Amino acid sequence: MNKLRTAVIGLGWAGTVHAHTVAALPGIDLVALADLDPAKRAAHPDVPTFTDVEAMLRLGLDYCVIATPSATHEHYALALAAAGIPTLIEKPLAPTGAAAWRIHEAFTQARVFAAVGHTERHQAPIAELARLLNTGSFGELWQLTTRRQGPYSGRILDVGVALDLLIHDVDLVSWLAGQPIESVTASTRVLAGPYEDTATATTVLRGGLLAHHHADWISPFKHRIVQAHTAAGVLVADTVAGTLTHHPNTAGPAGSGAFPGVACGDAYAIALAKRAAPFTVEHQLMRDALLGAQVCGLVSLAEGAAAVATTEALLTAASTGLATPVAARQPALA
Ligand SMILES: NC(=O)c1ccc[n+]([C@@H]2O[C@H](COP(=O)([O-])OP(=O)(O)OC[C@H]3O[C@@H](n4cnc5c(N)ncnc54)[C@H](O)[C@@H]3O)[C@@H](O)[C@H]2O)c1
Repeated sequence: MNKLRTAVIGLGWAGTVHAHTVAALPGIDLVALADLDPAKRAAHPDVPTFTDVEAMLRLGLDYCVIATPSATHEHYALALAAAGIPTLIEKPLAPTGAAAWRIHEAFTQARVFAAVGHTERHQAPIAELARLLNTGSFGELWQLTTRRQGPYSGRILDVGVALDLLIHDVDLVSWLAGQPIESVTASTRVLAGPYEDTATATTVLRGGLLAHHHADWISPFKHRIVQAHTAAGVLVADTVAGTLTHHPNTAGPAGSGAFPGVACGDAYAIALAKRAAPFTVEHQLMRDALLGAQVCGLVSLAEGAAAVATTEALLTAASTGLATPVAARQPALA
């Protein structure tokens, strides 16, 4: 079997992880890398490097990763779609919903496969949470709550914390609940700037489910939490600790005033199957999809564009103070 010839554009934090991941996986050859910064290119002496991505595409590639700042994703995505090269595009797919849908349209028209790098779906506690919710054995899903806090990385310069981090959570809740987000209320604050560095939002999913979100990059610790309130208790996925915990609901004492069926009780750690790192899972899925195995588990361009449109609505909601509907797909592209 021939190996897939793969390249990565953008050799910062994410691009370097992609490059090392691809280089270590069977069935894939890392054949080229591109970055505008000579120091970034020099850090990979064993792989041919390029500044001119058009020249790199002429090498003949089976797939390519875009891991440049989000404002540049559209430029490279349209070039790759036009060249017929399957692509994995880092999140956020684009800084605006309109740009994200243009990328979707370009790959759809060209009939070229592409996916978005929402790696959080591939974290072991999140993958198991999704599996458990899908079994139906936890009963009705009542509410989702997400929290993503940490210090500012110093790298993301073109978007704020909502498009950088909170977008992971709007993607996660929609995927976990199996419903699109229809509207958003939100507050954000610019402390260091130039964009918001703290954001709090409530999203309303089709059918009325509420998801509450907080993300910031002003915290001197790293927390990554997704809580799913269900009729059978709360499941807490902590992707920093790598744990999934079940706090079962037990009937409260009569007249206690507790929400029916809810009282403090025990907590149980749920065993997690050993799972490869999220970037590895993503490239395994990409490889298998391109080699003809069933496409499953990668985040589609439509899902990536929906996450951008939701985050865009969040920023509008924060600036207007109004509950804001998530824009339907651009009418011209419907
Ligand atoms: N999936 C995840 O978990 C995850 C984690 C981190 C970052 N990301 C995403 O990856 C992307 C890059 O983020 P990062 O943290 O690696 O940023 P970074 O600043 O570390 O790296 C960006 C790289 O792109 C290069 N670059 C900038 N403009 C370019 C251009 N026009 N052409 C070619 N190269 C260019 C820069 O020189 C730099 O090496 C962003 O979209 C970010 O949101 C995703």
